[in-house]
Amino acid sequence: MKAVRIHEYGGPEVLVYEDIETPAPGPDQVLVHVRAAAVNPVDVAVRTDSFPTPRQPPKTLGSDGAGVVEAVGPGVRGVAPGDEVFFTGLGVGTEGSYAEYALIAPAQAVRKPANVSFEESAALGLAFSTAWYGLARRAALAVGETTLIQGAGGGVGSAAVQLAHAKGARVLATAGGPDAVARVRELGADEVIDRRSADVVSEVKRLTEGRGVDVVFETVVSANLAADLAMIVKGGRIVCIGSPDPSIQIPFGTATAVDASLLFASSSNAKRAGVAEILGEVAAMVERGELRPVVGRVVPLSQAREAHELLAGHHFGKIVLVP
Ligand SMILES: NC(=O)c1ccc[n+]([C@@H]2O[C@H](COP(=O)([O-])OP(=O)(O)OC[C@H]3O[C@@H](n4cnc5c(N)ncnc54)[C@H](OP(=O)(O)O)[C@@H]3O)[C@@H](O)[C@H]2O)c1
Repeated sequence: MKAVRIHEYGGPEVLVYEDIETPAPGPDQVLVHVRAAAVNPVDVAVRTDSFPTPRQPPKTLGSDGAGVVEAVGPGVRGVAPGDEVFFTGLGVGTEGSYAEYALIAPAQAVRKPANVSFEESAALGLAFSTAWYGLARRAALAVGETTLIQGAGGGVGSAAVQLAHAKGARVLATAGGPDAVARVRELGADEVIDRRSADVVSEVKRLTEGRGVDVVFETVVSANLAADLAMIVKGGRIVCIGSPDPSIQIPFGTATAVDASLLFASSSNAKRAGVAEILGEVAAMVERGELRPVVGRVVPLSQAREAHELLAGHHFGKIVLVP
């Protein structure tokens, strides 16, 4: 089969599109014929050796995918050949989804929503499970609360906007540029601030009549934490999802003045909290038309290097590879 692997760590140029042996499912494994694989920042972190991973190169990248079950190993119950599924959580401790076939655990297989494509289903896994875990489980966003989604044009942010709207919150969001602003509004945000041309803190204050927001969903902590602390209500929560710079500075005075709750959330813990259950609910909401996967670009698997370059630049929603 064709797969995109790394033989060493480095830039996009270390991604190699090559032939490898098609795996066979062992006990408690499911072989999926991959029809689409999403590109996530964690794949880049694995490629550059900036994410702790027990598997050394050569290895196949990719956390997320969607496809058709080809075969199941001994002992597998509840998943059968022919089932259409999507999944997340490959590529760190296991081989990844950037391939024509991938092995998953039965518990990772979530039934694909009937009303969306494989490309759209592949875009659901990590983005929606992280948004759900951060907003619903960690921040416990409640009906009637006001939330600010930072980085709303990205994969996780575009999921968070929709989930917050579906949960009955008032949704404020930031996006980069007029096109992204318009698209985030279409996802259900009540107010979208163009972070390139507006002062986000004063806009949030204006839109909330000086009150601030109850919850910030923050995907770029190192850039925005000081501003977030200036935009929350007393006792407000900031749920921290991503940070390009891992060593963040906390302005102690501002944080204590507003009794801030800083929360952190990892999709690894979403797995332990029952990622299949979370994604099963996401899939049901997609089928009811309450959520929709946001695919910005579809790229051939053979051009995974270009896909990683696109992820590093300005993009909207998810970038998806098709074998
Ligand atoms: N905790 C977890 O388990 C977990 C899970 C998934 C992802 N993550 C992390 O979460 C982050 C977002 O992931 P993603 O998949 O959504 O990435 P993504 O698709 O690349 O989106 C990132 C978004 O952030 C925007 N952005 C950049 N600088 C910003 C700033 N200073 N303020 C506000 N927005 C800004 C970008 O907008 P422009 O295009 O305009 O620059 C882009 O829309 C990444 O760091 C990722 O590693 C964490």
